Amino acid sequence: MKLSWWQRKGVYQIYPKSFLDTTGSGTGDLRGVLERLDYIKSLGVGAIWLTPVYPSPMVDNGYDIADYTDIDPRFGTLADFDKLIAEAKARDIRIIMDLVFNHTSDRHPWFVESKTSRDNPKADWYIWRDEPTNWRSIFGGSAWHWCKERQQFYLHSFATQQPDLNWENADVRRALFDAANFWLDRGVGGFRIDAIVYIKKPAQFVDGPADSDGTCSVHNMTAALPGILDFLHEFKREVFDGRDIFTVAEANSVTPDELPAWVGEGGVFDELFEFSHVNIMFPFGEVWHRAEPFKLSDFKRALSDSQRATHGLYPIYFENHDKPRAVDTFFPHGTNKILAAKALATILFTLRGTPFIYQGQELGLGNAAFSSIDDYDDISSRGQYDLARADGLSDKQALRFVQKFSRDNARTPMQWNSSPNAGFTSAEPWLPVHEDFATFNAEAEDRDADSVLNFYRRLSAFRNSSDVLLGGEYRELFPEREDVYIFTRTLGNRTLCTAVNFTTHDVPFPAKIFDGARKIFGNYPDESNHFRPTEAIFYEL
Ligand code: GLC
Repeated sequence: MKLSWWQRKGVYQIYPKSFLDTTGSGTGDLRGVLERLDYIKSLGVGAIWLTPVYPSPMVDNGYDIADYTDIDPRFGTLADFDKLIAEAKARDIRIIMDLVFNHTSDRHPWFVESKTSRDNPKADWYIWRDEPTNWRSIFGGSAWHWCKERQQFYLHSFATQQPDLNWENADVRRALFDAANFWLDRGVGGFRIDAIVYIKKPAQFVDGPADSDGTCSVHNMTAALPGILDFLHEFKREVFDGRDIFTVAEANSVTPDELPAWVGEGGVFDELFEFSHVNIMFPFGEVWHRAEPFKLSDFKRALSDSQRATHGLYPIYFENHDKPRAVDTFFPHGTNKILAAKALATILFTLRGTPFIYQGQELGLGNAAFSSIDDYDDISSRGQYDLARADGLSDKQALRFVQKFSRDNARTPMQWNSSPNAGFTSAEPWLPVHEDFATFNAEAEDRDADSVLNFYRRLSAFRNSSDVLLGGEYRELFPEREDVYIFTRTLGNRTLCTAVNFTTHDVPFPAKIFDGARKIFGNYPDESNHFRPTEAIFYEL
């Protein structure tokens, strides 16, 4: 079986601001990542995806970039970065940079110049218009911002301080491709490419179908428009071609049946983060207070569709820095979190594709619900809160949705040990540490053979050396069932089977399929003749 390096091992995602602070600043840094490389290696991964570490005013925690070819002093220096690449490489781990090319910070020199007049050399590097449309930005509020200096509006799909670049301009594209090549020449192993579906804008800027408040999400007007693939193929030619790298793009709205045009031979990227399985609560757009209940059959369908469409060129993920913790998202209220964390790990490592572990997921961390909206740092949480309030919800009701869905749930500091601030910092952490850190932390879990952490390590090692898991065909059984997720992986005459009970009650085994099967691992220590609550079992059939 011929597999690329990024198909053989998983990826560990790091949110550096919350990983490990080595300077006593209250925010994490690159040296913190360097210090924990052996821990990361113990998870059996072949790459680390670092969310942005470029100079940034941090309005969106680094996704507002002011310089594409440097490191923010809060995180360290280019020398620290080079050391990280080298030390990671010595452990057979590559560093994946996050490229944020749909927009820059409003402090980026390109924008600072662009806004000075309508005829400066960078005048059309961004999207300027005399009239706004009714588009609502992804973080809430109008997607257009009035610039006094230039007497025009500019488009920002995300925060006001994140103006959208104009990809129609060839100089913009050149400058972006040069920035990407700068990092490849420094030795990075590839890219996670942010919000890429928004780079192509419509030929005409017109109002979209209005929601009750008269606005229309910019997402509905600009995501994955015709013509985008031309830009992306140019990107590929100018940056990716001929390099042994891994590229994975964030592509909210690309559907499984469209995947072949985006990934693999004939496509542009190696893999694509599409959102169908993590957004099933939001069939009509991500407005948190309009969330629908979680439905297991929808979740399974989304995963199965992607599996079929990509034949394994697929990032498997249940968490990232934009999503709440999975143990609190995909299971009913009252579920045992340790069982849930292990059940998800079982799916993560046995589906076909590249498993992505988001920092803290391997410890089984859950959501940290803060008690006031003022405690939230995340810009989208504040936007969602305002939207809910504008829709008539009380403070308490609006806060409840923020507590459930806030991106800050995943951004609380990494829990290293039971010392103050979970060993993350010696100072006041930039975001409060989750209160459960005395129980859920890397040091305690390292010592406990039955911990979520050691479960992750075992499953990851098993997956990395199993030809059936690396390349076997995927088949789902009982897709319509709302209680269990069962699928098989087959290569030659061997079939492995994953079965997870998503409920908090006992469920009988479906007739006969496990007769004579051999349990390889599971989240209960012993065996039974039925599924116990949240039980996950991995069999050889
Ligand atoms: C992506 C990032 C998210 C960021 C947004 C704007 O969705 O994952 O964190 O806020 O793009 O750059």
